[in-house]
Amino acid sequence: MTFNHKHIIGIKDLTPEELTFILDTSISFKEINRRDIKKVPTLRGKTIINLFFEASTRTRTSFEIAGKRLSADTINISASGSSVVKGETLEDTAKNIEAMNPDAIVMRHNASGACEYLAKRLDCAIINAGDGMHEHPSQALLDAYTIREAKGKIEGLTVAIIGDITHSRVVRSNIYCLTKLGAKVRVAGPGTMLPPGIERLGCEAYKNIDDAIKGSDVVMMLRIQRERQGAPLIPSVREYSKFFGLTHARMKLAKEDAIVMHPGPINRGVELPTSIADGPQNVILDQVENGVAVRMALLYLACGGEKLQD
Ligand code: CP
Repeated sequence: MTFNHKHIIGIKDLTPEELTFILDTSISFKEINRRDIKKVPTLRGKTIINLFFEASTRTRTSFEIAGKRLSADTINISASGSSVVKGETLEDTAKNIEAMNPDAIVMRHNASGACEYLAKRLDCAIINAGDGMHEHPSQALLDAYTIREAKGKIEGLTVAIIGDITHSRVVRSNIYCLTKLGAKVRVAGPGTMLPPGIERLGCEAYKNIDDAIKGSDVVMMLRIQRERQGAPLIPSVREYSKFFGLTHARMKLAKEDAIVMHPGPINRGVELPTSIADGPQNVILDQVENGVAVRMALLYLACGGEKLQD
């Protein structure tokens, strides 16, 4: 098949076939990432700008490594070190960057819809690295890749996503991605962090973590997105941990071979104890490794690596 999307804004825009195509394309990039010599010439001569208006460890580093392993020139811009601090608007910042002829801008922004806003105004490819509470498509794809790798399939699995559902872009992208690929998705969180009508996205909503975890193949834990909430925090961190933190007793409700996932950063002792975060069922660092391969596939497809045929 051919992949004809200029921008990658959200999983909502992609078909199940396109999602599977991205995951399949990522397999060969993972193989490259495990070689001694990890660099390939695929995007030689292309320029990729990472434009980050929010903090990031995994996504930013992963996109940078992905671009460099594909031989693209990769430039990182943090809003805090740019002329944004002097009052320059998003549109002016992006248009000035575009005047230097990059092939793609990978952007993280605190405003939901910021990537779509730029995609409508710029000619180069825009890749969403997380926009507000909206979507985090590359995270959902690396999660899907990791689930498929660990369980051998996605279709027919039950995935429980637990925590601050309201403020998480990861959960939205994962609901779209995993349901399109045939999984059943359950979400659970405190009433203040479980948006009414979330079921309309195609998931089941629970107010009790035990009910959500029971019989699941995958347990994905989320941190409280403190940066998107005012004070005071309701529930408190202690209440969140007590009622929605993962414990060994709760893990026993999941299938015996269930895996534990977390997009990071982890708040150890809040949503996950270290004994589970580092325990035998966790695939958290596999998620991080797979993120590089998936982002190589996204850059390859968005930056006009030759059209792939199957
Ligand atoms: N999962 C994720 O987006 O992590 P970072 O915020 O560190 O990029």
